[in-house]
Amino acid sequence: MDDVTEAVRAMYERFPYPPAGAPMHRVGTHVRLALSLGERRAPVGRALRVLDAGCGRGIGLLGSATLQPDVLFDGVDLNRVALAELEAEVAARGLKNLRTQEVNLMTMADLVPPEGGYDGIHSSGVLHHLSDPLQGLRALKAVLAPHGVMSVMVYGLFGREPLYRLVDAINRVLPEDLSLEQRLVAARQMVRQLPMPAVRTGPWADLDGLRDAEFVDRYLNVNEVAWSVEELFELLEKAGMRFLRWCEPADWTLPPNTNFAALSPLLQYQLVERLQWRHRLEFYATHKENLPRAALTRDSLEDAVAAVNPEVAFRVESRMLHGHSRTERLLYQLRNQEAVALTGVLARATSLLQGQSEPFLVHKFCKMLMGVADPLAVAEDLLRREILYVV
Ligand SMILES: C[S@@+](CC[C@H](N)C(=O)[O-])C[C@H]1O[C@@H](n2cnc3c(N)ncnc32)[C@H](O)[C@@H]1O
Repeated sequence: MDDVTEAVRAMYERFPYPPAGAPMHRVGTHVRLALSLGERRAPVGRALRVLDAGCGRGIGLLGSATLQPDVLFDGVDLNRVALAELEAEVAARGLKNLRTQEVNLMTMADLVPPEGGYDGIHSSGVLHHLSDPLQGLRALKAVLAPHGVMSVMVYGLFGREPLYRLVDAINRVLPEDLSLEQRLVAARQMVRQLPMPAVRTGPWADLDGLRDAEFVDRYLNVNEVAWSVEELFELLEKAGMRFLRWCEPADWTLPPNTNFAALSPLLQYQLVERLQWRHRLEFYATHKENLPRAALTRDSLEDAVAAVNPEVAFRVESRMLHGHSRTERLLYQLRNQEAVALTGVLARATSLLQGQSEPFLVHKFCKMLMGVADPLAVAEDLLRREILYVV
């Protein structure tokens, strides 16, 4: 193990990440949704396999494995403390579709990928801590199936600028030979004693309430880089990978009715990250040879298989009237966006979809919309809103 990786492991074993929290369903972790973005299809008739590269304490991985019980997950990390904790949690929950293994992503030694590679790879907050991120990304690509899709989160340079001011200030005053624990005490004292409005701002305004593991991860990390969008795209290019889309595309678009909406996508992303807080670059990528899935034509849509987007939540607002519950409004919420109220035929169509966990044929769904003049247009609208996706 190289010295940098050794130091990263020592830090995370002392302060396992994330510091606390219940298992959760994180955006970007649904493998069928991820696969629907690439042109190539996964083979049918076998369970899908997903690698969580640098799973840490597995807060996201436990959520994924619980919500996708027919998918087999491998959670790997070099942090033995976090893995032991995760294994105990897997046993306590009786999860049969989640295995863990100690693996150094820089070498991948001892990892036995499934034949043909993983269908999905998820890696959140890890690549930027590797001693050689490009080598790590290439190693992940090597175990990704040709049709496979990765969802990755790495640090965004511009959004982290206030954070790095504090890192720089800490490094200027604290002697290098202090232990991590001593650095933590001294850095916390600095935060308490000095005014730092330029540091306690934007996404970093929560500086005072941080748990130790979060404080260390952010401000005392022994190895990390952060990338601008153009640097990230260059990294993907060097690794032979294709950017498919952001996990939250709405975070990366400019207002449609401005001159700027006509700029190239990359230039728009560059403007967004320079003008807004974007400290997390969260995206889907695949092999260079796998193209983005083209939108279906109206004709082919009829025969397509669709499913309800797992990143959509529905909310029904009802009222008691004369002893009966009456539905007043149906709302949907896509990821962390604002909830949107549906009306008319869209509300009717969406109410048919609630609780629909299995994929279905679009033309069968259209048949259920009896009396609707153009049911296919409704299906198209549901796809455009990302309430549905084509499997
Ligand atoms: C910030 S944590 C993220 C944990 C988890 N992905 C999450 O989002 O909650 C970074 C994780 O990457 C792991 N890591 C760093 N370098 C690694 C390497 N070379 N091989 C395997 N894991 C590594 C660390 O041990 C740590 O658990």
